Amino acid sequence: MSKNADDRLDRLFDAARAARERAYAPYSHFAVGAAVFSESGAIHAGCNVENAAYPQGSCAETGAISAMVAAGDRRIVDIVVVGAGEELVTPCGGCRQRIREFADAETRVHVADLKGIRSSFRISELLPYSFGPQNLTHS
Ligand code: THU
Repeated sequence: MSKNADDRLDRLFDAARAARERAYAPYSHFAVGAAVFSESGAIHAGCNVENAAYPQGSCAETGAISAMVAAGDRRIVDIVVVGAGEELVTPCGGCRQRIREFADAETRVHVADLKGIRSSFRISELLPYSFGPQNLTHS
């Protein structure tokens, strides 16, 4: 990867890690941060926000995507998800679908721990044969 691309991803990773520090996860104690690079080049971060009524909690990716949409952007170029532990913190099923809504073949989903990015995926790897906006344009 070029140095510029590395710098870009470093900045995205730092934003996701900083958002993770602000996670509200008093029930699972599993803090997650996410940050999106959108088509305008802006960074949009989010963290998980849990709730005493457990199902009302939301994922870090959901927060980051909401911030992107609220800022007026519509395309995810890269998304970094940061969580601790041995296992890769890949997006949950619901968040894969939320990412897919704003993704294309070039979009990369980067999975990181607190030290840095561990693996990178295309959305088609995480969510093969997905249903998306184009399904609704042929009715
Ligand atoms: N979580 C995320 O925020 N993103 C993921 O990709 C996986 C799970 C959150 C939801 C919940 O607050 C906690 O992690 C434990 O599942």
